Amino acid sequence: MIDDTFKELGDMPPEEFREAAHRVAEITADYLENLESYSVLPDIEPGSVRSALPATAPERGEPLDDILADYQEMIVPKITHWQHPGFLAYFSSVACGPGILGEWLAGGLNSNVMFWQNAPSSTELEETVVSWLRQMLGLPEAFDGMFTDTASISTLNSLVAARHADEDLAARQRGIAGRPETGRLRIYTSAESHSSIEKAAIVIGVGREGVRKIEVDEAFRMKPDALVRAIREDRGRGWRPIAVVATLGTTSTTSLDPVDAIATVCEQEGLWLHVDAAYGGAAGLVPEWRSRLVGWERADSIVVNAHKWMFAPFDASLLLFRRPAVFRDAFSLVAEYMKTPDTGDTHNFNEYGVQLGRRFRALKLWIMIRYFGREGFAARLREHRRLALAFAEWIDAAPCWTRVAPVPLACVCFRFDGSDEKNAEILEYVNRSGGIYLSSTRLRGEYVLRMQVGNPRTKLDHVRRCWKVLQEAVQ
Ligand SMILES: Cc1ncc(COP(=O)(O)O)c(C=O)c1O
Repeated sequence: MIDDTFKELGDMPPEEFREAAHRVAEITADYLENLESYSVLPDIEPGSVRSALPATAPERGEPLDDILADYQEMIVPKITHWQHPGFLAYFSSVACGPGILGEWLAGGLNSNVMFWQNAPSSTELEETVVSWLRQMLGLPEAFDGMFTDTASISTLNSLVAARHADEDLAARQRGIAGRPETGRLRIYTSAESHSSIEKAAIVIGVGREGVRKIEVDEAFRMKPDALVRAIREDRGRGWRPIAVVATLGTTSTTSLDPVDAIATVCEQEGLWLHVDAAYGGAAGLVPEWRSRLVGWERADSIVVNAHKWMFAPFDASLLLFRRPAVFRDAFSLVAEYMKTPDTGDTHNFNEYGVQLGRRFRALKLWIMIRYFGREGFAARLREHRRLALAFAEWIDAAPCWTRVAPVPLACVCFRFDGSDEKNAEILEYVNRSGGIYLSSTRLRGEYVLRMQVGNPRTKLDHVRRCWKVLQEAVQ
């Protein structure tokens, strides 16, 4: 006889879930409505949140009322508010309303998009949304693709494919360690590229020494002639070049590498071209800006982060590839228990990258794209650039302030004419002001302040306030 004592076991009852879901919707809507009542950066000491939380998990379940009250009191006021319109640091990573709704719906379904059979509509929606995005960005039909979590993983997957494309190396089968006959592998990228390139090199056995940083011009763009020289010099010394990573929208200044010229070098040298357009790729949504990206349509692989300048809730990174078969050959390992009947030309997405289990990211993108339309995204991006250019004009016109880089998209790098320490003090003052959050970087050895606009909630008033607080900081 089966004992029925535990018949109350199970998930949260549907009625309780329904009521709680309404409350969570209210909490989120209130948060978004009142964002500006918070300081962008919380005024807290490291470790203070942890020490206020119980050190051990509860033995018995607790009422949801208590949990939500703690969320409101202990978590929300003590986070850095990425959604705040005064968050002008780094690159914006904003969750727009329709994207949040998509996340909620995806959470309810919990579809794991490994292969078609266990995720048919999620797989086919991903195929469709990837194709929509490709077209929205102005890229040719030759590209296929998928979503990953981050640009770091999209780039890692691409560099594994690049290594695989070097057929004589046979890295998938034989590995690369302990084979001196192969020569050491080399990847080229600019001195301004993101650390994720080096991280990928660490993972795939190229190592940090295997990444050769190519010098940049006065506008922080990779110099193609220096790239050619480096490749030839390396070949002469026994290195084995496999890939070039160009950047569209570098992390410090958003400079745009001359991808067309770099693509020509890659063709001549037989090297894989990966384009890190994690930030700048979104510029393809604006037809009159596409000429700034020219050449990326010649790449072997491209990453564009939808969770950067496309307002997708974290995370959603679009990875596009010209030769899907190379990715599939590099990664596919179908265990016996995962074999399914032939599903035609649909994708079993786990075979194209590192991850087996994958989130259903296409749903939020589908909702967002239908809600805003391509033109809705483009209009917002144009507005962000208009705000950034207004800020750049104020800097240019002000005595004692200097803009230190061009503004190809919506980010301004500048400094006060004083020491690095003085500029660091200014940043501290601004970030303590509550309403504005800026970041810093280093260019040509100098400490530099940085302001970017990438949040649809940011208006001219916020950028004006930023400039006002900066001026207060030097009085
Ligand atoms: C140019 C560039 N590439 C890659 C990344 C890494 O992005 P992710 O956090 O999605 O890995 C960043 C992050 O800001 C970036 O600026």
